[in-house]
Amino acid sequence: MIKKTVLSIASLLFLLTLVSDAQYRNASRDAIEQPEKVMEAVGVKPGMLIGEIGAGHGYFTFWLAKGVGETGKVYANDIDKSALAAIERRRASESVPNIETVLGTVEDPRLPAGALDMVFVVNAFHDLERPVELLANLLPALKPGATVVIMDRDHERTPDSEGHFLTRAEVEEIVGRSVFEMVRVETFLRYHNLYILTARK
Ligand SMILES: C[S@@+](CC[C@H](N)C(=O)[O-])C[C@H]1O[C@@H](n2cnc3c(N)ncnc32)[C@H](O)[C@@H]1O
Repeated sequence: MIKKTVLSIASLLFLLTLVSDAQYRNASRDAIEQPEKVMEAVGVKPGMLIGEIGAGHGYFTFWLAKGVGETGKVYANDIDKSALAAIERRRASESVPNIETVLGTVEDPRLPAGALDMVFVVNAFHDLERPVELLANLLPALKPGATVVIMDRDHERTPDSEGHFLTRAEVEEIVGRSVFEMVRVETFLRYHNLYILTARK
């Protein structure tokens, strides 16, 4: 009897985990964030090695894994172990071979040195406690000429956000204090801007 109860509680907890993971595969987010159009706009190509900072439960990570294909790879970073565990569960359940999770710290993403063609920060830049320090520690992971794409909601185009998101001017000011410079800003998404950076010469 006790064994049966423990087993049914374990099954229930497992089901709840699956339901919670599923909310991160979200058709309404696809319509708003248009991952395929974003990847095309910034030049994601098969074979690339891409880092993602603040990957969370992997909403964008799995799109990137599709974009870089079997010959490429995505390093999904976060400071939250449980978020990375959710990515690992989905990676296993969907048999996606080209994602590796990387636990970082608030200031250091701990991505592999000299490896990356591109880095994404999707819906996470506004949450970074020390963005300037994190960008400095990201630099050694980039190949020469690599780009960093910050995709974040524009406070001025996001209703009722009560100061949670950054304005374009605020992102530009933070980047201006960092080792990167802004090369262009794409504004085709309804709420988000795409800030494209490269290392300062
Ligand atoms: C709003 S969530 C976005 C998650 C995901 N990118 C998405 O679009 O669904 C922000 C994520 O940034 C992570 N984060 C916050 N500070 C971080 C840091 N310094 N380095 C890496 N990840 C960080 C949080 O743990 C969280 O998973």
